[in-house]
Amino acid sequence: MKGVILAGGMGTRLFPITKVTNKHLMPVHDQPMVYYPLATLIRAGIKDIFLVTGPEGAGDFMKLLGSGKEFGVKITYRIQDEAGGIAQALSMAESFADKGKIVVVLGDNIFQDDIKEYVDEFEKVFEGARIFLKEVPDPERFGVPELDGDRVLKIDEKPDKPKSKYAVTGLYLYDGKVFDVIRTLKPSGRGELEITDVNNAYIEKGQMKSYKFKGFWSDAGTFPSLARATEMICKAEKEGTYETLVKRLNNNGQKKT
Ligand code: DAU
Repeated sequence: MKGVILAGGMGTRLFPITKVTNKHLMPVHDQPMVYYPLATLIRAGIKDIFLVTGPEGAGDFMKLLGSGKEFGVKITYRIQDEAGGIAQALSMAESFADKGKIVVVLGDNIFQDDIKEYVDEFEKVFEGARIFLKEVPDPERFGVPELDGDRVLKIDEKPDKPKSKYAVTGLYLYDGKVFDVIRTLKPSGRGELEITDVNNAYIEKGQMKSYKFKGFWSDAGTFPSLARATEMICKAEKEGTYETLVKRLNNNGQKKT
């Protein structure tokens, strides 16, 4: 399966730092933020990766990641001219996906879980989508699922009154029809094509399955979440329950830093 990293957007919640650098290049613990979603894909065995970013800092991304060779993957870049939303950024990957299934990860999301078993399961199914949930203390900051047992009835994007304690994390598995779904979307109140609307369309079709993550998860797009992500990675590394991308490559003898 192919992978997509969405690293566009304005990074306004990390202003003024994002005035001079792209949010996804900021350090989380001892590595640039984008290394973490990249590591999630690499650990799942994804080798062909499409990275969407904004015009500012695009060159810096290429300087950092290059062709992907040093990570054992191939990276293709595409510029999203304006921050029109996560679903709009994803729409740019249509020809790359070439009607196949894709793993999509948000550039500011940090996961401890290894997603390989979910990717392998999804590869075998005919159609549909998958989302991943995590219990959080502040669900109102995220897409929040309304649940009936394990079944997701609907997702509300940043609700005032969350219907569960879970966040929909920034990792999605989609079949090749996701681009048809995106074509039907209208911009939300915040003027964006919302990934939550894409997921609700799959829920309505009865083609969505959800899983709950066991390990830590955080976004890193605000100062408190950036600090929390750093703390979590640091702790997990010390405990030996998380291997960062650089360590993993060093251990495999692929990269020396
Ligand atoms: O972190 C998980 C959450 O991400 C989900 O729970 C929400 O349902 C989902 O909408 C999203 O919420 P945020 O409002 O936190 O997303 P944000 O605007 O911070 O964008 C997250 C990443 O998506 C960002 O790091 C880069 C990418 N992105 C975002 C926009 C708006 C793009 O590539 N292009 C864009 O236009």
